[in-house]
Amino acid sequence: MHLHKYEKIWLLFGGGVLVLFLLILSVNSFAMGMTPPSHMEMIDPTKVDQTPPFDNPGLKQVGDNEYELVMTAFIFGYTPNEIEIPAGAKVTFKVTSKDVVHGFAIPGTNVNMMITPGYISTLTHTFSDPGEYLILCNEYCGIGHQVMATRIVVKGKEGEES
Ligand code: CUA
Repeated sequence: MHLHKYEKIWLLFGGGVLVLFLLILSVNSFAMGMTPPSHMEMIDPTKVDQTPPFDNPGLKQVGDNEYELVMTAFIFGYTPNEIEIPAGAKVTFKVTSKDVVHGFAIPGTNVNMMITPGYISTLTHTFSDPGEYLILCNEYCGIGHQVMATRIVVKGKEGEES
């Protein structure tokens, strides 16, 4: 089969780009650990309020400035409603939905999860800087979607201005 010179160059270019993209993808996922957030833990969405740890949502200290934050999402809000943590806290979010698909995004951070009924979404984030962080729903979930939000207040260290 005879291929024109330009056709060969174009084929080589296309193949090269494909290999390059696959390489970047592999380095990201295997070497840098950039994988989608886990959705593997399951829960009966009709029994969220009776299933631990969601029967008692809130902040739990699990280590030196390390916390687990159990939250539920529902139309149109989150439980618990307002959370206070110290600066530098490493927080592992565990979130599930009691009804429909919701979002869980904190602008200015890498926290962005889809909260699907029946599944528990988990993500860990370290809040280095004091301030107010908005948690908002970024999946359209009904008539009150735009008011579905809460916040995390990250307190400065004792004696420091926050
Ligand atoms: Cu919940 Cu939009």
